Order: sequence, then C-alpha cells, then structure tokens
Amino acid sequence: MNIGLLSVSLSVYSTKRIAEEVERGGHYIELIDHTKCSVKLVSGNPQIFLGNENISDDFDVIIPRIGTNVTRHGAAIVKQFEMNGVFSTARSLGITRARNKVRTLQIMTKKGIPIPETLFSINPENINEQIEILGGTPVIIKLQEGTQGMGVILAESRKSAKSILDTFYKLDTSILIQEYIEEARGEDIRIIVVGNKVIASMKRSSALEEFRSNVHQGAETMAIIPTPKEQAMAIKAVKHLGLGVAGVDLIRSDRGPLLLEANASPGLRGIEEATGINVAQEIIKYVELNRYRRKKQKYYQ
Ligand SMILES: Nc1ncnc2c1ncn2[C@@H]1O[C@H](COP(=O)(O)OP(=O)(O)O)[C@@H](O)[C@H]1O
Ligand SMILES: [Mg+2]
Repeated sequence: MNIGLLSVSLSVYSTKRIAEEVERGGHYIELIDHTKCSVKLVSGNPQIFLGNENISDDFDVIIPRIGTNVTRHGAAIVKQFEMNGVFSTARSLGITRARNKVRTLQIMTKKGIPIPETLFSINPENINEQIEILGGTPVIIKLQEGTQGMGVILAESRKSAKSILDTFYKLDTSILIQEYIEEARGEDIRIIVVGNKVIASMKRSSALEEFRSNVHQGAETMAIIPTPKEQAMAIKAVKHLGLGVAGVDLIRSDRGPLLLEANASPGLRGIEEATGINVAQEIIKYVELNRYRRKKQKYYQ
C-alpha cells in the first residue's frame, strides 16, 4: 500500500511511530504536509498538488494527523482525497465535528450519550440567567476549539464566571459553559478507539492544584480497563462522529461516565507509554482491513 501521512512534521512522536509501523508492515509511506497542498478543481478531474507535484493518484490510503490551527484547510484536503476515492482513517466530516466541542456534544446528546450539562450562547445580556440555567456556579468555561487543556477554565464564583463570560462574548470567541464535575477529582479517562474496538485506555490524574487532567498540564497516567459501559460509549461516539481512529475523553461522575470530547488525531506517546500497547500498529492493521471499504462509495455531505 502507498500510505500518505497528512501531517506537518515527521519528527513528532505520533507521526514517527505511525511511519515506523507502516514500514514494518511492508508498506510505503510519504509525508504529506497538508499546509503545502493545493487543490485544482477541474470539472470531473479534481487534482491534488503537493507543492508543484500532482499527487492525486499516488496514494491508496491517507492517515490524517491534522493539527489544531489548520483544521479547515486540512479537512478540505482530506475531503478531496475522499472524493477521489482514497480511504482515510478519519473522514473530513469527522475531523470537523471532533474539532468543535459543541458540535461533538450536540451529536452526543442526539445519540443518547451522557455528557455534562452544557450551554452555549453568544449573548452578553443575560449572563446571570445562563449561569442559572446550568444550576449556578461553579461552572467550567471552555473554548469550543481548545485542546490540551488550554482554554478550559474553572469559574468558582458567580463574580468570576460573569466577568470571564462577558470578556469572551465581547471578544467574539466561541465558548461553552458546562457543569463542573467536582467528584471526578481532576481525573479523566482517555480511550483510544480504532475501528469499532477499544485498543488502549488510561486514567489521567491531574497535577496538584490543578483540575485539568491533560498530560500537557502535568497529569500522571495509568493503564486501565474501562467499564463495559464506558467502552460502549466511546465506540458509539466515534462511530457517530464518523472517525476511524479517535481518542475519547470521559469523566467519571456520580451519575456515571460522561463524555467530554473526542480527538481525531490523538497523541500516541502518552497512551503507548502508559499501556505498553502498540497503538500505531493497530492503526495500520485497521487500514489493512478496511482500505477497500469506502473505495466505491461516494459521499458529498
Ligand atoms: N465539566 C468538567 N468538569 C470537571 N472537569 C472537567 C470538565 N471539563 C473538562 N474538565 C477537565 O479538563 C480537562 C480538559 O478538558 P477537555 O474538555 O478534554 O478539553 P481539551 O480539549 O483541552 O482536552 C479534562 O480532561 C478534565 O480533566
Ligand atoms: Mg481533552
């Protein structure tokens, strides 16, 4: 197989690991820096270029590892590969859905997957009422498109919640307000789903004086086996987002597990180190098994 790895760099751990496993599987891999890709739209014959080179017919499969700041362009490139009949481990639509927490949570509620109560608005005129609708403070305020814990704020008092919300609304930033799950005690569960299977899972425990359990915020990790309910939630979420590979974040509350978000390009270092599981190899196996599945199917949503 000729596999295109859509990423800006081969030197980060996750892309390096995927490249290693592709080669170990006897396949050929090439880095496609999607920020250097352009698409020429010609009726009936759309072409994808990497720099000056036409790469439209070079790949059987693409593995998108789209970063957080060029998602829109990256998703459009993935879409073009899809439309040209190339199998992708993440559909463009899935990448866009997972990128935005509100969009993800809208789909989760529709599909009956439990989430923390969440409200989104842009109205600076009834902030008090918005906090009230959520049952009062403390509340979590989040950037809709934040990652790695950046842009997740705990507002303990109504005073601080109001000033933070007011600032964000006036800055025209897309945010959400969420009930604070205090009983999670700064822990969450990261579940890696590949295809329709849970491949690896870890518990992340936040550093002292911190409620965010992201590894980038100094959290400690430990391999775990999620409950059957948690596993089923993660698998269902990934399926409904339209992703082949994803990292799902769940939080344990008094009323059971709640889904926080899904990541379409989950980091591999933390999970491989915590669990000893070869996640990159599982991704390649998934590709080997599924590459023909979407070949003839056309979807333009
Ligand atoms: N509603 C919440 N209640 C308690 N803790 C939360 C809540 N939402 C997020 N957190 C904590 O903050 C971390 C980051 O939130 P998350 O929604 O996963 O955003 P990010 O994309 O930045 O990882 C979570 O892993 C969790 O530890
Ligand atoms: Mg997260």
